[in-house]
Amino acid sequence: MKVLLLGSGAREHALAWRIDQSSCLTKLWVADGNAGTASIATNLAVKPEDIDGVVAAAKSLEIDLVVVGPELPLSLGIVDRLASQGIAAFGPTRAAARIETSKSFALDVMKEAGVPCPDFWVFQEENSAIKFLRGHSGPMVVKADGLAAGKGVILCADAIEAADAVRTCMNDRAFGEAGDTVVVEEMLTGPEVSVFAFCDGERISSLAAACDYKRLEDGNGGPNTGGMGSYSPPSFWDEKLAQRVEQTVMRPVLETMARKGYPYKGVLYAGLMLTADGPKVLEFNCRLGDPETQVILPRLATDPLEVMQACVEGNLDRTPVKWENQCYVGVVLASAGYPASYETGFAISGAHEEEADTMLFHAATRQESVGEKTHLVTSGGRVMTVVGKGISLAEAKGKAYDRVRRISFNGAIFRTDIADLTEENSITQLRDSGL
Ligand code: AMP
Ligand code: GLY
Repeated sequence: MKVLLLGSGAREHALAWRIDQSSCLTKLWVADGNAGTASIATNLAVKPEDIDGVVAAAKSLEIDLVVVGPELPLSLGIVDRLASQGIAAFGPTRAAARIETSKSFALDVMKEAGVPCPDFWVFQEENSAIKFLRGHSGPMVVKADGLAAGKGVILCADAIEAADAVRTCMNDRAFGEAGDTVVVEEMLTGPEVSVFAFCDGERISSLAAACDYKRLEDGNGGPNTGGMGSYSPPSFWDEKLAQRVEQTVMRPVLETMARKGYPYKGVLYAGLMLTADGPKVLEFNCRLGDPETQVILPRLATDPLEVMQACVEGNLDRTPVKWENQCYVGVVLASAGYPASYETGFAISGAHEEEADTMLFHAATRQESVGEKTHLVTSGGRVMTVVGKGISLAEAKGKAYDRVRRISFNGAIFRTDIADLTEENSITQLRDSGL
């Protein structure tokens, strides 16, 4: 198969690395990739959201399968456009991608499917939202309905803060048209877990779970980021919890979407909170997570292209998806100043020193020519994810950090508490106490 992968982060380097191992692959292109994908595939100077550019490249290269990494091209209908040209693409249609691109749509699907989620209220007008909030007290979450680059969720201690958040969305239009509709949710508490399933429109694969770290600093302090680390599988994730999530969340959503006429194909990603009343859905995403992919794909024990093709063709029953039980821990190295402003162009050293049981997935990196030589340099906020493997999370964590400490660039920052087992133990206790 000739494959075109869209995206340029560490998620896409991990996808490229895993697809490169497929016995079905003849050649892999990445649009537009990074220095890591360039070492195993051919990068194209086409942005994933340049729909016309992607369609033209896929046609001229006679691509058999387009694999979509990020949500933006999915929200723009890349899968529909490619399908109309007879080109297969792994990912949901624009209508099915609304499970991520519209929070009110996702909540409506969940309500209809009977999926456990927070209580919620949807508003199209600022005044009606403010009026509603006058009659409510206690902590609440205000969310811009549309895609807001991970920034459209505002946690509010009380109704006054919530009213300010509504104004930020609807009056100041801080998230543009994404905030023209606003969702107010009950605030839940509990540990979070990301759950992934391959879907073929009717069927789902066995699930894979991972935990990610959204805050910048150790101990979950500092601002929210695109993700500073991840690990898989969480030790609290057992067969019982997997079955509960499959039966109460994943299957009902898939069945409801099929019944409504927008069957879901691709990876369905549920962001769950494990509350005292059981797992509840905080959000769905219509793609693999970043940095969860970097610790999940190494566990995929089935040929990735066979799985993706089965999803596209609607015959996932013929390709059972298996996940191996090894543990993986991913640590993100970022540029000083991230997620606010940062400088780029710093030389990266130590990246080529391979070490057993570790992997390095590039994100914001590029090769810079200086005279005859080329150097690897930083080109953005999240620079790379270093992954360690082990028979336990502790071993995987040790391996990851051993390699992290050998890599350096000016101003490199990273968290030192990814896969901290104290947190794992407390979640296991929560589950054992009857979750
Ligand atoms: P989302 O993008 O909807 O997953 O929200 C981002 C983060 O906000 C989640 O990972 C949670 O930490 C938090 N969050 C979202 N919704 C809620 C909620 N209803 N209750 C508590 N925390 C929430
Ligand atoms: N890890 C969060 C996301 O990919 O949206």
